[in-house]
Amino acid sequence: MSARNQTARKTTRRRAEANKPRLPGDLEHDALVERMIRVDQAGEYGARRIYEGQLAVLGNGPKGETIRHMHEQELRHLETFDALLADRRVRPTVLQPLWHVAGFALGAATALMGERAAMACTVAVEEVIDEHYARQAEQLGGDEAALKETIEDFRATEAEHRDIGLEHDAELAPGYPVLTGVIKAGSRAAIWLSERF
Ligand SMILES: [Fe+2]
Ligand SMILES: [Fe+2]
Repeated sequence: MSARNQTARKTTRRRAEANKPRLPGDLEHDALVERMIRVDQAGEYGARRIYEGQLAVLGNGPKGETIRHMHEQELRHLETFDALLADRRVRPTVLQPLWHVAGFALGAATALMGERAAMACTVAVEEVIDEHYARQAEQLGGDEAALKETIEDFRATEAEHRDIGLEHDAELAPGYPVLTGVIKAGSRAAIWLSERF
């Protein structure tokens, strides 16, 4: 984006913000968008690693193709957020090495519990991401139309992943409510941390 466009964008935003009551806890617009890009890049990175963990265990099995398909899409998502991170000079999360290990471990561990548990992991994670992207899209205004569109587009893919998990008997995984409850809590914690660190 050119410096002039950026200035114009900021001016429009300032005018819009002047008419809007601000809460003390409101983040400045730029900080909010930076935080979104940081956490989304982290999330897509984590998703990539989860599917890699699943593929390490189930890659040659009957669910291999399905998981590979989702992994491919996560790679596209990650590429987009890697590029956004670079373009806008946003600092990536310092927790990336943790997500590298934890994502893979979660994918592999659930896969070792069985195909249905792996699918339950997908349902839990993608449900949290779906909510997360919905909330972000809601927060973004017209001055970030492209980012909003990207997020809505990715959100549709994540919902598709959740549905794939459900179609592949995720709910028949042993201990499904507890398993998904724990994974969702972990995913929400990961989001919270990646937004801040
Ligand atoms: Fe994704
Ligand atoms: Fe996904």
